[in-house]
Amino acid sequence: MKRVAVAHPNIALAKYWGKRDQGRNVPAVPSLSVTLDGMTTTTAIEEAEADSLAINGVLRTGRPLERAVAMLDTLWREAGRLGQRPRAAVDSHNDFPTAAGLASSASAFAALAVAADALFATQLGRERLSAIARRSSASAGRSLFGGFVELPAGDAFAVDLPAAPVAPASHWDLRLVVAVTTEGEKEVGSTDGMVRTTETSPLYDGWVNAAPAIFARVREAVLARDFDALVGPVEQSALTMHATAFAADPGLVYWNGTTVEVIRAVRKLRAEGLRACFTIDAGPHVKILTPTASEASVREAISRVPGVLRTISARPGEGARLAVEE
Ligand code: PMV
Repeated sequence: MKRVAVAHPNIALAKYWGKRDQGRNVPAVPSLSVTLDGMTTTTAIEEAEADSLAINGVLRTGRPLERAVAMLDTLWREAGRLGQRPRAAVDSHNDFPTAAGLASSASAFAALAVAADALFATQLGRERLSAIARRSSASAGRSLFGGFVELPAGDAFAVDLPAAPVAPASHWDLRLVVAVTTEGEKEVGSTDGMVRTTETSPLYDGWVNAAPAIFARVREAVLARDFDALVGPVEQSALTMHATAFAADPGLVYWNGTTVEVIRAVRKLRAEGLRACFTIDAGPHVKILTPTASEASVREAISRVPGVLRTISARPGEGARLAVEE
């Protein structure tokens, strides 16, 4: 029997960066994201002789396979199933480029959790699947839900830490414009980057102390659909996260020159009266939030910034779910 699930990436408006507990993958700061529409990971799973993983048609071994297997083991154990877990062949496809810096691990682990839950008939429910996905990639816990989603910080003992919906996709019809600034893959992944930041950045404690208040302001602005109130904390969250990473040893510079140019362009647009603000993840691309009415102007202006290769537009979307049953 084959089960197929779909999930979308999400972009954090209040960033998660740093773990309270490495093994259990517990975030040290609360985060709030918007799940996107349009870009989709589709994951098929079926019983097989041995565990295997294919991503975009290419069989993967090593770390990617280990991470998928670890999630299947966790899910089986969490469901209290006895006996040996059935082995599974996982076949995952992204219809968006990984190099766009749209956390493909988030949609990948969210889709895998839903697909495996169906294959094993474990019926764990969205909340527990979110907590399981969060253990593989914290941002994946958020992609279980649609619209605006929060993931609290945990203490070191937080085993079950799911994300939770803040407001549905229909709550606020914002647009997110991605300014793609390179086709290359990022140099230091988020897991390694966070470890280095936590262990070596003298600014890390400042970030962890500041993040809850920034998160609270983002949350309030989202609930009130108040774009002008969103701008400050969204940009501060991204810039504080990156300042903390810059200060690691060796410093983590995820940006390129174009990243800075886009930041300046967004602020110039704002000075000219357009509503727009930026956020940046563990890579050089810039994600620009803007109300629907100004999307076309923002896209046009950002496309003209030297170094911007192309732009991708997305809107708030739905959480991970089963696709078709074959
Ligand atoms: O969950 P991870 O390991 O993919 O880390 C996500 C880190 C950021 O994308 C930079 C921030 C976030 O909250 O999504």
